[in-house]
Amino acid sequence: MPTDLDPQLLPPIIDDLALQGWSRQEHFLPDSLTRELASECRKRAEKGALAPAGVGRGEALAVREGIRGDRIQWLEAGQHAACDRYLAAMDELRAALNQAFFLGLADYESHFALYPPGSFYQKHLDRFRDDDRRTVSAVFYLNQAWQADQGGALRLYPPGGEVLDVLPQSGTLLLFMSAELPHEVLPASRDRLSLTGWFRRRAL
Ligand code: OGA
Ligand code: MN
Repeated sequence: MPTDLDPQLLPPIIDDLALQGWSRQEHFLPDSLTRELASECRKRAEKGALAPAGVGRGEALAVREGIRGDRIQWLEAGQHAACDRYLAAMDELRAALNQAFFLGLADYESHFALYPPGSFYQKHLDRFRDDDRRTVSAVFYLNQAWQADQGGALRLYPPGGEVLDVLPQSGTLLLFMSAELPHEVLPASRDRLSLTGWFRRRAL
């Protein structure tokens, strides 16, 4: 089954990840699908379905707004057509990453995230100390007409490279190696919406 993923994007994504450990695609999915995902995220936020995100995992999970201030809801298959199309595209990407890098990526977990104005996520790595399954991080942004002076950049600290800011512009997908790239979310002056997720290996 073909998905919404344009196969022409795969070679540049694979080259970027191989050469620098991250990749930015500015037009990852058709605009109509991106808009449907944004409106679904907003709807869920309005009905109160997004909950304050935790930090850590299992018993160490704690809501600490000093560290991260976003509200999230995990995606589940079969709830919403646009979300299912997104998951199908990410699954096609997972297969392509496995073919290129032999990463053994077994699944993809993803949540909607909404950062209210002024909230942020302090500098961190996405791989947990006690669970090393998260291998490739993927953030897909859902904000129409984002302006640089509205803040909200994802700031990347590539080891040995230059600090880089990525604006959370609608349609942009940012991929990076979860264990290697420290990053932080800067505060913004408007709501900041995304679908954030992780391709995971099987537990060893
Ligand atoms: C995260 C994260 C980045 C972003 O949720 O772990 O770093 O740009 N998100 O939202
Ligand atoms: Mn992160």
